[in-house]
Amino acid sequence: MVDKFLSQRLYTATMKIEIQKSSLKNIKDETLILPFYQKNGKTVLPSQGAPFKKTVEQLSKDESFKADFKEVFFLPYAQGGKHWVFVGLGKKEDIRRNRIREALLKASLKLRDQSVQSITFALSLLDLNQKYSTEALVQLSLESLILPLYQFNKFKKESKKKEEVKSVTIVVEHEEELKEGKKGLSKAKKYIETCNFVRDLVNTPHNEMTAPTLAEIAKTEAEKANIKVTVWGEKELQKEGFGAFLAVNRGSDIPPRFVILDYTPQEKEVPTVCLVGKGITFDTGGISLKPSQNLDEMKMDMAGSATVLGILLLCSKLNLPLRVVGFMCLTNNMPSGKATVPGDIVTAYNGKTIEILNTDAEGRLVLADGLAYADKNYSPDLIIDFATLTGACVVALGNVGSAILGTDQKSIDRLKELNCETGEKIWQLPLWDEYDEDVKGENADLRNIGTDRGAGTAKAAVFLKSFVRDQTPWIHFDIAGSAYVPKPTHRYAPKGATAACVRLVTTFLSQYHEEAK
Ligand code: BES
Ligand code: ZN
Ligand code: ZN
Repeated sequence: MVDKFLSQRLYTATMKIEIQKSSLKNIKDETLILPFYQKNGKTVLPSQGAPFKKTVEQLSKDESFKADFKEVFFLPYAQGGKHWVFVGLGKKEDIRRNRIREALLKASLKLRDQSVQSITFALSLLDLNQKYSTEALVQLSLESLILPLYQFNKFKKESKKKEEVKSVTIVVEHEEELKEGKKGLSKAKKYIETCNFVRDLVNTPHNEMTAPTLAEIAKTEAEKANIKVTVWGEKELQKEGFGAFLAVNRGSDIPPRFVILDYTPQEKEVPTVCLVGKGITFDTGGISLKPSQNLDEMKMDMAGSATVLGILLLCSKLNLPLRVVGFMCLTNNMPSGKATVPGDIVTAYNGKTIEILNTDAEGRLVLADGLAYADKNYSPDLIIDFATLTGACVVALGNVGSAILGTDQKSIDRLKELNCETGEKIWQLPLWDEYDEDVKGENADLRNIGTDRGAGTAKAAVFLKSFVRDQTPWIHFDIAGSAYVPKPTHRYAPKGATAACVRLVTTFLSQYHEEAK
């Protein structure tokens, strides 16, 4: 099963991604993407835009294209058999990195619909060197052009697949831009490849993605990236006292796995960050069975663990100067004659007792043990957890962004700012003291659900907080709405898995050491 998963080539593994120095006149590629700004309601022709002057004037005259933000005009066979794609960026004074991202991803999807196989992007027309580094611009352009093209094709016949874009090239004008741009290209390749790997993991259905399979995949990939891997089974979980985690696995015929991924860089005296991921390979709800509508989507309930694996792989590929330790809490959540029933009381790793009043609130149970274990044994400078934890989060934020809660406000503020660099949206919810009362147990220390339906996302987070020591800075991401989108409305992904938080948190970690100084 593992070999089968890994032997399927990733979409981007076959894509050629390049950067070259050339003047725009000499581009021979099939399709050229040309970004333009607007001034006084008209397309602005920059100095390097001379080869397109006539066409731009014509398109302005007949009002086919006026460079409005996100306007895309496809001109097939514009010159010598080449297609030109005019992309509007709006006014130059309004330009922001997210605007470039949005305009490019729209253009890219339009081109795929036209069955275009090869794309060249005229980066030099952006003329933003004063504002952003070429490295950053190349990275964001490639991500915006390539990430939305992902397809989950593993189980499809060749004829059912959409045409794939086979090559993406960035064109710059100057030698220094080429040098800088190559760094951006190398980073972009790593980010894109890893995001698409995470998407494949999350999209793969439960019959092909159980806890033992996912643990094997994690081990294989992490070892390739020089990450130290430890995999525990039921025996070790029992020995270590993971009572809450095991309660979730109790109804299952498939054994659980706890995977520890340890990335330690060459540098000494670096901070340690622990990442803990919910990895429910399928969430039926257990004895508190979920309704059957859209239940298939619960194959994505391991997205938190896939996110952890993705970030770890990236930290290693990017050689980041900090120690990052990942924990994947893997099991499915099934009803059966052996299953945990509402009212059962279990003891977690840190000795706290939990009254399980709803077996569908299982994510917080596996995380309770994962968090307490990471905190006690690694004394991290920061713990971050990722979980498709609550339906309430989808109600609050839809599928657009992730909820963030935690005790490290400085890091939360930094993560919020990173929206500009990554385009990923997060929204903070409060950890008000008043919620604490609501997760206190009647017959045990804690109960695993609140006493009413209010503030479900915050109350789940407050529950998790009791498994992290007060002195340890901790952040929780609820990715229930952002990790998997039932409609292709998300900005970077078609229907299905998105790899939410992978780029955001890796970018955060890549700057963490600097910030901490
Ligand atoms: N995996 C679900 C949360 C979820 C819902 C993720 C929708 C993605 C989309 C989680 O285990 C769950 O079932 N949570 C319950 C908690 C409740 C019983 C307190 C929920 O949100 O209904
Ligand atoms: Zn559940
Ligand atoms: Zn769940």
